[in-house]
Amino acid sequence: MKKYWLVGNWKMHGSLASNATLLNAIRERQPALSPYVDMVLCPAFPYIAQMASLVEGTGIQLGAQNASDHLQGAYTGETSPRMLKELGCGYVIIGHSERRIYQGENDGLMGRKALAAIDAGLIPIICVGETAEERDKSRTHEVLARQLDAAFGYIRTAHDQVIIAYEPIWAIGTGIAATPEIVQTEHAFLRSRVAQRDPSFAARMPIIYGGSVKPGNAASLFSMPDVDGGLIGSAALNAEDFVAIYQSLV
Ligand code: G3P
Repeated sequence: MKKYWLVGNWKMHGSLASNATLLNAIRERQPALSPYVDMVLCPAFPYIAQMASLVEGTGIQLGAQNASDHLQGAYTGETSPRMLKELGCGYVIIGHSERRIYQGENDGLMGRKALAAIDAGLIPIICVGETAEERDKSRTHEVLARQLDAAFGYIRTAHDQVIIAYEPIWAIGTGIAATPEIVQTEHAFLRSRVAQRDPSFAARMPIIYGGSVKPGNAASLFSMPDVDGGLIGSAALNAEDFVAIYQSLV
């Protein structure tokens, strides 16, 4: 059976109390995880230690929403991927569009962050995606290629492990997901682009979709051959919805 990843990006939401309540509600609805569907929760930085202790023994894995492109040093306010690994993270989201937009993070920085994450023993979830304007102007492949090439300028396909997340910016938080056909087209493009570098790496590289995934559209999105799971925002904050999305993969 095919392997899937379901990643919950909690963004800048939560509290010590609500995180525990949400996790308990998720576990009540999904007490056992499928060996073919990894569940990864990405809380905000302050809650990673709390979540690490709460998920212990449950099979649920932890991720962070960002990390420095340095492993240590005089970088005030930054968080090293090595520190995240020490806290129990296995994954880190890199290059989310909200960081590109609000924090001015660029493609080259994403590549360096992905490399630092890998060197710290984390699996980077590298986000790529176009704006509505770029899609309307038929520039989607140009944008995706630029973002992907910047990341793969650092990634060593011989032994590195990454996950790519296709998140069309026009689908994030809008309630309007991309159609399964659009998602399959772009995932296939991303995979073919990486295959030009290393066909076997591209074949085994998970590509997950993010952008208004809900219980009502998850099954059709995840049925596409080049979709290996989802990166979930608002629906990840609702236990019933998140577990319903998880169960559409099982
Ligand atoms: O990282 C996932 C997120 O950007 C998608 O958000 O609320 O559209 O599922 P949402």
